[in-house]
Amino acid sequence: MLDRKKYILASNWKANFTLEEAINWFEIVSRLNYPDLRIIAAIPYPYIHYFATRYNNIDVFSQNISHVLGGAYTGEVTISMLKSVGFRGSIVGHSERRHLFNESNQIINKKVLILQENSTEIILCIGETLEERKEGKTERVLYDQIISALNGFSRFELLTVAYEPVWAIGTGIPISPHDLTEAERFIRKIFEDKFGVKNIILLYGGSVDKEFAKVIRNQTTLDGALIGSASWKPHNFEEIIRIFVEH
Ligand code: 13P
Repeated sequence: MLDRKKYILASNWKANFTLEEAINWFEIVSRLNYPDLRIIAAIPYPYIHYFATRYNNIDVFSQNISHVLGGAYTGEVTISMLKSVGFRGSIVGHSERRHLFNESNQIINKKVLILQENSTEIILCIGETLEERKEGKTERVLYDQIISALNGFSRFELLTVAYEPVWAIGTGIPISPHDLTEAERFIRKIFEDKFGVKNIILLYGGSVDKEFAKVIRNQTTLDGALIGSASWKPHNFEEIIRIFVEH
């Protein structure tokens, strides 16, 4: 029997899509049924209930979650709200949250622990800035982000890590295959050495397109990708999906 890997392709919609566009995307993407593939859609809060209850072959995630459990926190969206509308998990620590909304490693840790407490899946994003890379601090930054986010965490079956170098997000310039392989090795080693976890589920994100999907698929041992703009047009996403399942 062919030993095929179950790939994960996660589409991060960010702050995009009307309901009509969202329905069109789900209609097209949900027709693709591959046993070796898990599709995740990290979508805006208002659409979670609609899609989580209608399409069972696409796992609906939120892009963020509140670090508080409830109460007088105007505008926050909590774990109990998200669970009650059927979400499967949440992205935590996306670089846009870290850099544009000043989310600290401590806040990210709180979110991770809330999700753990509720037996809900987590896609933890980590990644260095260009300045940090140029100064040779990449490994230090990744190490600190992992260790601080996972303080008090033990349910690794709930965790997926997404390595997203900040400078590669939305720029059209993905990391080089060589640097990606080095980062993958380094991240996997942290999980083995610090937590005794072999084969942590690890995705890459940052300007993934059809061409770079081939790099991930054929030149690394990653488990898949977290994709922004190249996944927003359903037919583009479909082309990327086919690279993972048909090669
Ligand atoms: P792009 O694929 O648009 O670079 O975005 C990556 C990302 O931020 C996924 O979370």
